[in-house]
Amino acid sequence: IQKIAVLTSGGDSPGMNAAIRSVVRASAYHNLSCFGVYRGYQGLIDNSFIELNARSVKNTINRGGTFLKSARSKEFMDKAGRDKAYQNLLANHIDALVVIGGDGTFTGARIFGEEFNFPVVGIPGTIDNDINGTDFTIGYDTALNTVVEAIDKIRDTASSHDRLFLVEVMGRDAGDIALNSGIGAGAEEILIPEEDMGTERLLDSLKRSRNSGKTSSIIVVAEGDQIGKNITKLADFIQVNLTEYEVKVTVLGHIQRGGSPSCYDRVLASRLGVGAVDALMEGKSHIMIGVNHKEVVQVPFEIAINGEKKIDEKLIRVADIMSI
Ligand code: F6P
Repeated sequence: IQKIAVLTSGGDSPGMNAAIRSVVRASAYHNLSCFGVYRGYQGLIDNSFIELNARSVKNTINRGGTFLKSARSKEFMDKAGRDKAYQNLLANHIDALVVIGGDGTFTGARIFGEEFNFPVVGIPGTIDNDINGTDFTIGYDTALNTVVEAIDKIRDTASSHDRLFLVEVMGRDAGDIALNSGIGAGAEEILIPEEDMGTERLLDSLKRSRNSGKTSSIIVVAEGDQIGKNITKLADFIQVNLTEYEVKVTVLGHIQRGGSPSCYDRVLASRLGVGAVDALMEGKSHIMIGVNHKEVVQVPFEIAINGEKKIDEKLIRVADIMSI
């Protein structure tokens, strides 16, 4: 291969810029030319490319978001859109593609790679940490720190006013952000999609802790949790049944997706970018580069997307013990 293209797709995450930077510099190291694609797969269809060299990515390692911009392209889901994308890659003499994103991005990459027998390697960039075969995704650590910082602030005011706060965090299908930030921020209860707690059990537990002397409380709720899905309804239910507290709701929302990446995410992004270009140089394709037990690993797309990523049961136990 001589020329590669890199894009970011799906929900952005802190550290995507560091990953682009790493792909660009690893390409320069191997004497490959490197192009950036604007707005993910949509940019392939719109022929929106920019040539990048080692210097074009200066001052990007510390920046949140993605300077290549991101999108969830509907056109790329259709064969006609993918045909256009392929023609544009050929017209620009691009031999291989590096895609940075989450499960939607890898699903697109897998279909595209197989359809046109085109070399594609993925880098996991999502705050959700919901990709199988990698211990961590780029942006997750930063998002956790953002959430913990926000909940620390909520705790101050919750404690001053003897209030109970429901704090909604991101994670449509995955409870990693909720569980880990919940433990880190000392939450009373953590509601995650992987475990259905049920409202009665939640109420019993809140009553028990109130009776044990707690005067304020924080419940972290993943947006995808069954009972947390309608967070205002949950707040009303608790308010009616636990009148000792005043119940408030805070939805953290997209604040979790922004900000300067943590050192961990910057290093992870740098490692995975180098790993992606190494893999292409070895002739590999249809794989994601991940990290497993400290080692950089290559994981087939179908395992990354379809493999079952389980929540850490031991961590749930730790959360339960900590909230005694
Ligand atoms: O997948 C990342 C994520 O931030 C999810 O946690 C969240 O459910 C979703 O993206 C939000 O998407 P959007 O930015 O399109 O509202």
